Amino acid sequence: MPRRVLVTGGAGYIGSHCCKALARAGAEVVVYDNLSRGHADAVKWGPLVEGDLRDRVTLEAALRAHRIEAVIHFAALAYVGESVGAPETYYDNNLGGMIALLEAMEAVGVGRIVFSSSCATYGTPAQLPITEDMVQAPINPYGRTKLACEWMLRDAAVAHGIEFAALRYFNAAGADPEGEIGERHDPETHLIPLALMAASGEAGPLRIFGTDYPTPDGTCIRDYIHVDDLAEAHLRALDHLAAGRGSVALNLGTGRGSSVREVIAAVERVTGRPVPVIAEARRAGDPAELTADPSKARETLGFAARYTDLDQIVAHAAPWFGHARALAG
Ligand code: UFG
Repeated sequence: MPRRVLVTGGAGYIGSHCCKALARAGAEVVVYDNLSRGHADAVKWGPLVEGDLRDRVTLEAALRAHRIEAVIHFAALAYVGESVGAPETYYDNNLGGMIALLEAMEAVGVGRIVFSSSCATYGTPAQLPITEDMVQAPINPYGRTKLACEWMLRDAAVAHGIEFAALRYFNAAGADPEGEIGERHDPETHLIPLALMAASGEAGPLRIFGTDYPTPDGTCIRDYIHVDDLAEAHLRALDHLAAGRGSVALNLGTGRGSSVREVIAAVERVTGRPVPVIAEARRAGDPAELTADPSKARETLGFAARYTDLDQIVAHAAPWFGHARALAG
């Protein structure tokens, strides 16, 4: 494992969980974040350099000052719906950030990067579960920015010899089992937080976006993976690169899908409260079903999700949404 790691977006949801895992594994963690979406109080395991990735001067200074050996790059705008309405903002931030980061790494001589990609790069898959060799044809600007970043990594690998791991997350969920950090988005658009907020009365009824999908109960199916499992996969990806085993692109999911209605049932079991719902029309850009084939991550990194029980994932998220007594087992 590299000892000194720069974590861009380390004040955000997945980034902060990864910082905790890195620190626990003995790495020195430096967070680089412009705090546009992240939270300064989630930076607990190393210094925070407040800066925008497109600010090359600050970025290069941080890489040099902390003698960084590898980068984990989370910092990006990540709302599918928002990206449809403001594509320029997404291209500017997500691609501009990646360009500046690769240039700064090249200038300073940092050669390893783990990148936060997404199953959104596959668009509507031709087959399920999704394997890494399937066509990547994203159906929204957010997914296109993530795919373009993967292309940049591949080109930079050829041009400058950098080594990368592009990790294509399915649906990140849950929170730190010790309760130090959790999921805090503003606005919140994700299913599990909104269902928990509906159960606690913090928010109104949960709107189910589409009940007429060609799935067993008519609602969309997603592969929910615990954020701590994602963090663990990042550590393994760093080890993989440090061992000189070469660049990779890997799906990170559990391999199991849960429907919106199954998630709602899990929230009701965990909280002991009903989730009021309203059936609504489909949300634009939602594929009916997305599940990962996790075999390649297992073969390449020896990684498999530890949290395979949806109730446990929900139980870890619950205390962040007004369910103080929810099981945290
Ligand atoms: N859903 C509802 N009601 C809500 C919110 C969500 O029915 O109020 C449904 C969605 O339609 C979808 C499922 O719950 O079928 C999950 O939705 P989320 O918004 O929680 O997650 P997404 O699958 O849309 O998005 C996630 C990440 C994105 C990533 C995407 C890849 O948040 O960053 O997976 O598909 F791009």
